[in-house]
Amino acid sequence: MQTKFVCLAVLFSIAANATSIRISNSAGFQSVLGSDLLERTVVKGSSAIRSSQSSSAMLSSSSVSSSLSNSISSSSSQATVTSMPQAFDTSLGTNFTQDSCASFFNRFLADRAFIDCYPFSFYLQNSKAFFEITKQGAYALSSTFDAICSVNASQCTATMNGYAAELLDSSICLGDYGLENPLVTAAYNDFTSYSMLYAAGCLTSSVSGAYCFVEATSNSSLTQDSYLYYLPLDVTLPSGVASNGTCTQCASDVMAIFYNSGAGNTSLALSRTYLSAAKALDAACGDEFADTNVVFVESTTTAEASASATTTGAAATATSRTVLSAIVIAMLLVWNA
Ligand SMILES: *[C@@H]1O[C@H](CO)[C@@H](O)[C@H](O)[C@H]1NC(C)=O
Ligand SMILES: *[C@@H]1O[C@H](CO)[C@@H](O)[C@H](O)[C@H]1NC(C)=O
Ligand SMILES: *[C@@H]1O[C@H](CO)[C@@H](O)[C@H](O)[C@H]1NC(C)=O
Ligand SMILES: *[C@@H]1O[C@H](CO)[C@@H](O)[C@H](O)[C@H]1NC(C)=O
Ligand SMILES: *[C@@H]1O[C@H](CO)[C@@H](O)[C@H](O)[C@H]1NC(C)=O
Repeated sequence: MQTKFVCLAVLFSIAANATSIRISNSAGFQSVLGSDLLERTVVKGSSAIRSSQSSSAMLSSSSVSSSLSNSISSSSSQATVTSMPQAFDTSLGTNFTQDSCASFFNRFLADRAFIDCYPFSFYLQNSKAFFEITKQGAYALSSTFDAICSVNASQCTATMNGYAAELLDSSICLGDYGLENPLVTAAYNDFTSYSMLYAAGCLTSSVSGAYCFVEATSNSSLTQDSYLYYLPLDVTLPSGVASNGTCTQCASDVMAIFYNSGAGNTSLALSRTYLSAAKALDAACGDEFADTNVVFVESTTTAEASASATTTGAAATATSRTVLSAIVIAMLLVWNA
């Protein structure tokens, strides 16, 4: 238990350090986030709902899409009021070179369509409230996951993809993304890994019926499992973690979700972390544990004009990754001049 929290604490502080920039825009994020947190209530589903999402259903051939369309309606057996975590609830800064990028953060963080998705991908590294809940134990964390998993995931995926495309728009955040502003990079990884982390986070153990993530974070012998959820967020599996692993079905299932979510898609941070983790796991747990047959593919469209239809008038450009890199380099040159 203790060890586990230390691990989480380390990961959280890494994330917090990366984004700990003092807030100086007056009525900015904090007020919006604070009031919102109080407003929201969550109706907790019964544990029957939880176990009805079988992990085998999650991992059928088209595992990701099936799990996404399989959004669970939370018919409540008992109604309890719980406040949900919020993304980027620590200080957000003014370390943007583009005002449009700061506005973008303000906008999506206040957007109901975003907030109500309860995005696990954002909570993992960028929510102090979520981190606090992980310390409250399995019951509190499970309740939070009942809410996280009760959203319309296909709709939320569309929302997140739209925001990811906007972020890469040159008139919004592309400049700061190119400068590797840690906040912007984190947001991009969080948007683009929403659906795979929804699927992985909502996975339940075929043995206990509990959420795999909850089990991993509340059992100190499951260190191997708890690290895997960070792979889509560009955190590589530390050496030694795999070799000392418990080789659980949950860990294998999580890797299968990631494998099917674009482990070779070079537009995703996952493409930088998946394969080495899979190889290490296979060495410890057997060849069949995680698929290592990754084909790396350059994504053709990283920004889609249609995806950002909901908001600004700025037209998002549909452009190849290569063209995108060229633009980023060009902007760097212009701004450094
Ligand atoms: C989820 O959202 C999509 C798109 O808005 C909608 O077509 C679908 O019916 C919704 N699914 C559920 C279960 O509400
Ligand atoms: C501010 O952003 C730049 C790049 O945009 C980054 O190199 C620098 O580390 C950031 N500073 C802080 C305090 O995060
Ligand atoms: C790769 O990921 C990007 C970012 O999420 C996405 O836009 C693109 O469609 C993906 N490519 C493939 C081939 O799935
Ligand atoms: C922790 O995980 C191990 C390995 O899966 C298991 O044997 C043990 O029973 C678990 N402990 C608790 C308290 O659930
Ligand atoms: C490996 O696992 C054992 C048993 O859970 C534990 O005692 C030991 O400290 C672990 N070693 C490392 C390097 O994590």
